[in-house]
Amino acid sequence: MENDVSEVLLTGEEIREKTAELARQITADYEDKDPLLICILKGGLMFLADLTRQIHLPLEIDFMAVSSYGDATESSGVVRILMDLERNVQGRHVLIVEDIIDTGRTLNYIIQNLRTRGPASIKICTLLNKPARRVLDIPLDYVGFVIPDRFVVGYGLDYGEIYRNLPFVGVLKPELYAEE
Ligand code: PRP
Repeated sequence: MENDVSEVLLTGEEIREKTAELARQITADYEDKDPLLICILKGGLMFLADLTRQIHLPLEIDFMAVSSYGDATESSGVVRILMDLERNVQGRHVLIVEDIIDTGRTLNYIIQNLRTRGPASIKICTLLNKPARRVLDIPLDYVGFVIPDRFVVGYGLDYGEIYRNLPFVGVLKPELYAEE
């Protein structure tokens, strides 16, 4: 599996350091707010697990799974909820936790959807931001790394559901996926 990666973009150590930094900011910003962290499955799982263990506040975690129609490498913006939240977000300070923001279409749908449920606030925390591919401009509150327009896998990110368990973020060898 490691051999399918041409370059390590972010090491496990770099991710750990950045996650700790983001967790410190979130701990300061959400004091007395009892935030509800919403992890967008499946990619956000690793980041959520490492991030929350360093946020020193009472918080709740919930999950949402969405599927974005499109080809293997780009979302279309037509999003379907596969699994909805268990918690009621009304009046809650919601922090969405994502692995990557690419075109912004998935996140845009999720934000619009959650807004209709009356949260006190919605903020975004993403490990990776790939602005080169952005179609919809969405303000991001906490960003780990701005990355170039490369096809990345690992630390939650997949290609064909594989590679999520790599402990780093790497660039997938182009010969392994169909170029657009
Ligand atoms: C990825 C990622 C975001 C979305 C970003 O999820 O986790 O949710 O794509 O792309 P966008 O900004 O272009 O909409 P994906 O649909 O691959 O599902 P997964 O997390 O289960 O891998």
